[in-house]
Amino acid sequence: MAFLGREKEFRHLAIETLDLTPGESVLEIGCGTGNSFESLRQSVGPDGTIVGIDASRGMTHAARDRIRRKGWQNVHVLRGDARRPPVSDGTHDAAYAAMSLSAVTDPERAIRSIETALRPGGRVVVLDAQLFQRIPWTLLNPIITPIAESATNWVPQVDLVAALRREFGTVDVTTFNAGSILVACARKSHR
Ligand SMILES: C[S@@+](CC[C@H](N)C(=O)[O-])C[C@H]1O[C@@H](n2cnc3c(N)ncnc32)[C@H](O)[C@@H]1O
Repeated sequence: MAFLGREKEFRHLAIETLDLTPGESVLEIGCGTGNSFESLRQSVGPDGTIVGIDASRGMTHAARDRIRRKGWQNVHVLRGDARRPPVSDGTHDAAYAAMSLSAVTDPERAIRSIETALRPGGRVVVLDAQLFQRIPWTLLNPIITPIAESATNWVPQVDLVAALRREFGTVDVTTFNAGSILVACARKSHR
């Protein structure tokens, strides 16, 4: 719903913002069924690597099924928690999280784990939904919040940009749809 018909556009923009180059390694947090794998793979090429992490057995099963059907050798899926992903520290060039951090319990911790998994200078892009930020759309927020709480895993009140700032410092943010969709990009320091 939050995409208001512009899902393809936002997903494309988010992956473009990652600015991947051939041969890079990308960690995707909350990869779901792997619907970003194809685009990520196009960006890193056959010499790059994609590691998708998801906590759900059903999602990881579907994602592995997709990899098998496509015959991708450089895409891997691990079942695990975004708050302590089963990957080595400082090993990934980039990390990507699409519509997943707002569904994670304790996203601050997940963001800290992303920072740990990145190599110095590595970057992260987050595509996610939040409450409307602009009048008159903000009038809908009191209606959306209880629906989200009772019927979905989405926690719209979470301030992902503030959490990213606390961990990474500078964050570039672009918002769409009256502020309800954000694409945020940050970089781990080189030290
Ligand atoms: C709304 S789906 C988004 C899936 C995919 N990234 C996309 O863009 O379509 C959110 C995903 O986050 C996963 N997730 C939620 N909490 C998680 C956690 N603590 N660790 C890892 N994955 C988690 C869910 O299993 C689900 O697949």
